[in-house]
Amino acid sequence: MATPRDFKIAPSILSANFARLGEEVDDVLASGADIVHFDVMDNHYVPNLTIGPMVCEALRKHGVTAPIDAHLMVKPVDRLIGDFIDAGASYITFHPEASEHVDRSLQLIRDGGVKSGLVFNPATPLSYLDYVMDKVDMILLMSVNPGFGGQSFLPSTLDKLREARARIDASGRDIRLEIDGGVKVDNIAEIARAGADTFVAGSAIFKARNAEEPNRYDGVLKALRDELASV
Ligand code: DX5
Ligand code: ZN
Repeated sequence: MATPRDFKIAPSILSANFARLGEEVDDVLASGADIVHFDVMDNHYVPNLTIGPMVCEALRKHGVTAPIDAHLMVKPVDRLIGDFIDAGASYITFHPEASEHVDRSLQLIRDGGVKSGLVFNPATPLSYLDYVMDKVDMILLMSVNPGFGGQSFLPSTLDKLREARARIDASGRDIRLEIDGGVKVDNIAEIARAGADTFVAGSAIFKARNAEEPNRYDGVLKALRDELASV
C-alpha cells in the first residue's frame, strides 16, 4: 500500500475554462496540484470531442513544467502516441480495447521516453495486464464510463482497485494506480484505502475556486489532501 507521501492529485482540465487554459493550469498547479490530467476524446472511441497534441504542446510552450498525464480516449491509438511524445506528455495512457496490438502500443510509448499506462473502463477486465506488467508505469481505473466530466463514482470500482493494488504489490514493480471519475472530497479517503495513489478530479476541483481568490484552488486541494492524510 502506498504511503501518504506518495499520493498525487491530478486535476482533469476537462472541467477547466478552455478559453483561458494556460492560466487555469498555472493556477491549479500554484494551488498545489501535482499532475495535469489531459483528456483526449475523439468522438469515435467516446462520444465527445476535446483536445489534442497541439494543446499539450501549447501548454509546454506556455511554461508548464509539471507532469502532463495524457489520457487517450481515441481509436486508433498508435499515431497519436507519437504526436503526444513530441508534444511533451509525461505519461500516455490508452484503453486496451482501442489498440489492435496492446504490447506494441505500450512499447511505442516507452521507446519515446514517456511513461506508459493502460486504462480500464468499468466493464473491462484487469486480465489485459496478465502479460504486460513489465511494460506499464501506470494503471488507470475508470470509475465512470469515459466521455464526460461530472458523473458519479461507481462503487464497484473499489473492489477493482483492491484487485489492481494486489496485482501491483505482487509484481513488486513501481506502478502508479490512478483513479478517474467522480472523485470528490467525501470519497477520496475511501478510494485511497482501496489502493489508489493517484487521483484525477475534474469537476470537484475546477468547480471549487476559492471564494475570495477566484484564481486559486487551494481550498479544495487542501480538503482533498486532509482527507488523504487521514488514510
Ligand atoms: C472522463 C474523463 C475524466 C473526467 C473526470 O472520461 O476521463 O478525466 O474529466 O471528471 P470528474 O472528476 O468531474 O468526474
Ligand atoms: Zn481522464
